[in-house]
Amino acid sequence: MLPEVLLRALWLFLPAFVANPTAVLWGGGRPVDMGRVWRDGRRILGDGKTWRGLAGGTLSGLTIGLLQGLVALKVAPDLLAFGSPLEAILVPFLLALGALLGDVAAAFAKRRWGLERGARAPGLDQYDFVAGALVLTALIRPAWVLGNYVVGEVIWGLLLLLLVTPLLHRGVNILGYRLGKKEVPW
Ligand code: CTP
Ligand code: MG
Repeated sequence: MLPEVLLRALWLFLPAFVANPTAVLWGGGRPVDMGRVWRDGRRILGDGKTWRGLAGGTLSGLTIGLLQGLVALKVAPDLLAFGSPLEAILVPFLLALGALLGDVAAAFAKRRWGLERGARAPGLDQYDFVAGALVLTALIRPAWVLGNYVVGEVIWGLLLLLLVTPLLHRGVNILGYRLGKKEVPW
């Protein structure tokens, strides 16, 4: 049924949705690129991508995913579970880490285009983490991504994800800015 498909698509993606804002909360300290510059003379990634952000965001996404697994067992395993016991751990981890690696890849692209840290890159800023999460998960667990987001009516879930992502992204970033956690409201 379509309502269940849509609910499930958003629910399963929570670890990825959680990873970016929590990376902002945890972030700081040593940058992933260690301050090094690329051959164009600009930073490889910039100070906005830190190890603490990567680790904190990944662990936060994983934690949410594990809690979701417990809720699923209690409430409705068929509708809400990530899959096998292994997938209940592996998939949230991959979604969260992938989301942040997508964000890192976007930062790399932005620096190569000469955009400073925090500069806007419409499209990329909103969708980098969705692409990263789905690509990393698909590399390790292709059947999971196909079965939950691609083949059959679940594709509507993917479309809903693409629709709500820019709205969520905007809302969360304005919140982060107001709380003083982000330097720019995007
Ligand atoms: N952050 C972090 N580590 C990450 C991702 C984010 O420490 N892997 C923190 C940084 O403090 C960063 C803030 O979260 O400044 C906001 O994240 P984001 O908007 O992704 O970075 P920007 O500062 O906009 O930098 P960029 O242009 O490189 O995306
Ligand atoms: Mg940014």
